[in-house]
Amino acid sequence: MAQEPETLTNNAIRPYPQHARLRNASPSIRFTIHPIVRRPENPIMTKPTPDGQPIILLDDVTLKLASQAGEVNILRGVDLSVGEGETIGVVGPSGSGKSTMMMVIAGLERPTSGRAVVAGHSLADLDENGLATFRRENVGIVFQAFHLIPTMTALENVAIPMELARRKDARAEARRLLGMVGLSGRLSHYPGQLSGGEQQRVAMARAFGGRPKLLLADEPTGNLDQATGQAVIDLLFGLHREIGTTLLLITHDPALAARCQRIVRIEDGRIAGVTTTPVGAEAGVG
Ligand SMILES: Nc1ncnc2c1ncn2[C@@H]1O[C@H](COP(=O)(O)OP(=O)(O)O)[C@@H](O)[C@H]1O
Ligand SMILES: [Mg+2]
Repeated sequence: MAQEPETLTNNAIRPYPQHARLRNASPSIRFTIHPIVRRPENPIMTKPTPDGQPIILLDDVTLKLASQAGEVNILRGVDLSVGEGETIGVVGPSGSGKSTMMMVIAGLERPTSGRAVVAGHSLADLDENGLATFRRENVGIVFQAFHLIPTMTALENVAIPMELARRKDARAEARRLLGMVGLSGRLSHYPGQLSGGEQQRVAMARAFGGRPKLLLADEPTGNLDQATGQAVIDLLFGLHREIGTTLLLITHDPALAARCQRIVRIEDGRIAGVTTTPVGAEAGVG
């Protein structure tokens, strides 16, 4: 690949000397990190990627579901554009559609109408396999309820998605990531043997596994005590600073939302307002 020398010297991946190994890796693995290379020098960049595309584009997205009481309009025309490397806090009342919007962005729910383009992929054009590949290569997701596989150890939970992506050093990378979240001593524990905070940190290590361009976190501290929640959040923002990951964070905590560059407020299936925070103003978002 013509871009390889640049890949190996690029600021965005210099903290990861082990990436030198990717020189001999399979093309699919190289493809996974290729988009990182195209990031500008400053990881806290705000607006479009070099090819002019936002990393998330929702264009008049609606989502209706059938329920016993009839059709429910869950999303009612959502427009959202997020530049690569931005941090976005998503707030709003319970039931307003925040999680559903995140599921649309992740390709886990299909809109009834409108367009979702994420990391350059028009999600409507992808079948289920295509969506799974899209997620594996672009998106890390942290759910409030962790969603670890109970019959797998912490190490396996983190390594398996990378093994599915055919990373040869998946186990070693999983060990490194679990060390990063302070769980080196818990590698062979099963989720049932871990505290809530520890499970959430495993989930976070798993989400970081593909070094995703886009991290989606749905109330990741909702089930944690304050100190553990703070540690988890510091990890999320740390990854953003370290490799310029775009972060979309659903939260009920105003102080947490204020750490993001922009705050998107959802009410009744619509975007009710977007605010640039002082952090965002400093970073030139707006
Ligand atoms: N599978 C579903 N079938 C019917 N209604 C649903 C479904 N999933 C979510 N909803 C409804 O959609 C609305 C938005 O849900 P959600 O996106 O989870 O809200 P939030 O994350 O903001 O609390 C809620 O009223 C919820 O009850
Ligand atoms: Mg929710």
